Amino acid sequence: MKVEEAIRYVETRMRKPERQEDRELRKTYSEVFDNATIMTIYDLMSKGYIDIVDFPISTGKEGNVFRGYDKRGNLIAIKIYRVATSNFRRMSLYIQGDPRFKGITRDRRKLVYTWARKEYNNLERLMGAGVRVPMPIAHKNNVLVMEYIGSEEMPAPLLKDSEFDPEEAYEFVVNSMGKAYNQAKLVHGDISEYNILVNGDEFVLIDVAQAVHLKHPSAEELLVRDAKNTARYFRKLGVDTDEGEILRRVRECTT
Ligand SMILES: Nc1ncnc2c1ncn2[C@@H]1O[C@H](COP(=O)(O)OP(=O)(O)O)[C@@H](O)[C@H]1O
Ligand SMILES: [Mg+2]
Repeated sequence: MKVEEAIRYVETRMRKPERQEDRELRKTYSEVFDNATIMTIYDLMSKGYIDIVDFPISTGKEGNVFRGYDKRGNLIAIKIYRVATSNFRRMSLYIQGDPRFKGITRDRRKLVYTWARKEYNNLERLMGAGVRVPMPIAHKNNVLVMEYIGSEEMPAPLLKDSEFDPEEAYEFVVNSMGKAYNQAKLVHGDISEYNILVNGDEFVLIDVAQAVHLKHPSAEELLVRDAKNTARYFRKLGVDTDEGEILRRVRECTT
């Protein structure tokens, strides 16, 4: 199959903004869907992981998340890391020193691919440890396909935009940190009300690309930072806790 044909095919499977008013959105699309990324999506389509690329759920600093459908008509979330505008330095810091990703590179594209693979691997490990994260489905190059969290009408809102019981959310975070640490041997490294979804009555931890193995030289520092941020956030909501209490529970967590 010729590249042009593949591109044309993918474009028929994408719900793209067309109106003039959607200038911002169109800019996003042209940044995200370079030819290499379209070929990657084409490959995931031919394997049935993706059938339709639906509307964007989020336009982040490094990646964009789209809603989509797989071949069987199930909703999926597609996270696409942009190669051109990625934060090379930040990604390197979280990859170097992780024993799973030896021999890293100065090549921007390869680093972004490693970043997506790392997120997939982290999701697998966390799921295996019993942490509620989106189920990883497939990955290739800079594209990650995972379980979609939300309803047919709308994606699940972030914790920061939701109403919830602070004690319950706090328990979710500390238990997740504990299972990640003891079973998955990972530290999330970016725990916040921006990286937890509220899906009906369950919480889901997301955005795990930066999570590092305990052997990473910054693992302890990141754990302490997560504990500090978690304590500060939940104390404001009236939960009686502090950094030390969280660290103690995480390190002693045996569930
Ligand atoms: N599996 C998912 N299901 C539904 N929405 C998601 C999913 N993953 C991410 N999102 C949405 O996309 C946003 C960005 O995803 P995230 O992984 O936090 O990336 P980043 O913060 O690096 O841009 C999230 O805040 C959330 O709203
Ligand atoms: Mg995020």
